[in-house]
Amino acid sequence: MTDPQPREIPPPSGARILIVDDEPNICNLLRELLASEAYVIDICLGGQEALAKTRDAVYDMVISDLKMPGISGIDLIKSVKAESPDTATVLVTGYATVETAVKALRYGADDYLTKPFNIDELRKVVSRGLESKRLRLENHSLVTKLQSANDELKRHKNELKHEVVRTSESLLSTNHRLEQRVQQLHTITKVTKAITSILDLGRLLDFCLRLLGREMQVENSSIMLMQPDGRRLIVKASYGPRAKRVLNKERTLGDGVAGWVAEYKEALLVADVGVSPAFATEFSGQYPGKSFLCVPLVLQDRTLGVLNLTGKVDGGEFTEPDRDFVLAITGQIAVAIENAGLYDTIRRNSLHAVQALAESLEARDPYTSGHSARVTDYAVRVARTLGVSQPSVETLRYASRLHDIGKLGINEATLHKNGRLSEDEWMMIREHPAKGERIVESLGFLDRAQPIVRHHHERWDGTGYPDGLKGEEIPFLTRILSVADCYDAMTSQRPYRAAMSHREALAELDGGRSEQFDPAVVRQFVNVMGEGPFVHHPA
Ligand SMILES: [Fe+2]
Repeated sequence: MTDPQPREIPPPSGARILIVDDEPNICNLLRELLASEAYVIDICLGGQEALAKTRDAVYDMVISDLKMPGISGIDLIKSVKAESPDTATVLVTGYATVETAVKALRYGADDYLTKPFNIDELRKVVSRGLESKRLRLENHSLVTKLQSANDELKRHKNELKHEVVRTSESLLSTNHRLEQRVQQLHTITKVTKAITSILDLGRLLDFCLRLLGREMQVENSSIMLMQPDGRRLIVKASYGPRAKRVLNKERTLGDGVAGWVAEYKEALLVADVGVSPAFATEFSGQYPGKSFLCVPLVLQDRTLGVLNLTGKVDGGEFTEPDRDFVLAITGQIAVAIENAGLYDTIRRNSLHAVQALAESLEARDPYTSGHSARVTDYAVRVARTLGVSQPSVETLRYASRLHDIGKLGINEATLHKNGRLSEDEWMMIREHPAKGERIVESLGFLDRAQPIVRHHHERWDGTGYPDGLKGEEIPFLTRILSVADCYDAMTSQRPYRAAMSHREALAELDGGRSEQFDPAVVRQFVNVMGEGPFVHHPA
């Protein structure tokens, strides 16, 4: 494939050309030679005059003779190029040497012509120069547009970069908030599941405070419950370094922060007590931290209590998301508190009913009247001196009150028979611990009392009933109950024998301790009794 031949470029019509030569004939000749083209042609006979003209008008091309008096063609072209770099310039010389051509080009001429003129050569040079100028201008325009487009692109790129940064930050922030919400929802679900399964009020309140302390990094927290009078709030559970100090503290409705929150049923969030001097003065000393959150526990428009959260472990402030999170679970806590209260009422009522039944059974027989109440009193007192924990003492209390409840299933004739029992009657009597266990089991909330009731007739030497347990196989609380039960039986009058004296009963216990009872329990029982005869206080 051959290169395409250079195309004849049509001369741009209306191009303005300045011809400069000190010889008028040359100027006229050039004008005539170019007359066939639609150029606008001016003529100058000297460099000085030409310079003035180029300052007044814009020329597309200047054709200048090299040698002129005054300003030479080269100086003229230099000046023209300095004023208007896009003007095409052609130097005319009478000496067509390579040196001349190089010199002309070096000094800024775009082309050169030699005398005498060749008409075709002249037209080509003029046409090429004008086209070259047009291309330069077009190129300048394109470069300017390109630069402008490039600048615009850079601006868009920067804007895009900033937008990407902003979007990334926004996404990160949104993602962080979402993660927090998911975590909070997870916690709320966990709390809801857990608290609805806790029916003991004390355990429920402790659980809630521990969980909030852990989840929210709270330093101190407490739950105050509204009292039946509807006027007083009492701290029923507390958590943190100030727990013991605030427990059982009381506040009246409308008094202080908790009283205000309870009265108006509105949460109160104070990020920094120092920011509100009036607040700081009014509630000065009430809160150890600078930040606190107090939320009402409301159920069906009834205020059940107030939840107080004070101070964050890291010294930070409570925030609105903190408040929203707490508000999301306080509804569940209120329901759980209500349920626990109802359950407690049902439990007490059931217990009272069973106790009343047992007492009515005892009351029918003057010899056993008040037996379980006295046994309870003795067992509880001795248990306390043996370091038994409070929850276990409570279990022992219920077990002692109900230990003979199984006798409800034995007919009265057998139960109060004065003479010797038949084998069947004796078997029936021996069934009362197991029957008692089943009755206690049916109550549903005294699981720990069941084995105590079942085994209260076991003996240390293994000859007791119903299971013949021996020594430490017998539950420890049962061993205490057994001694108390026996002591009361011995010191109570029976139709077939007189009541033993306090000292006789102690001696009897002491003598039988290695066979029937745990020696350590008997020893403690006797020690406690050594302080003086028991005076029964109704439990
Ligand atoms: Fe019994």
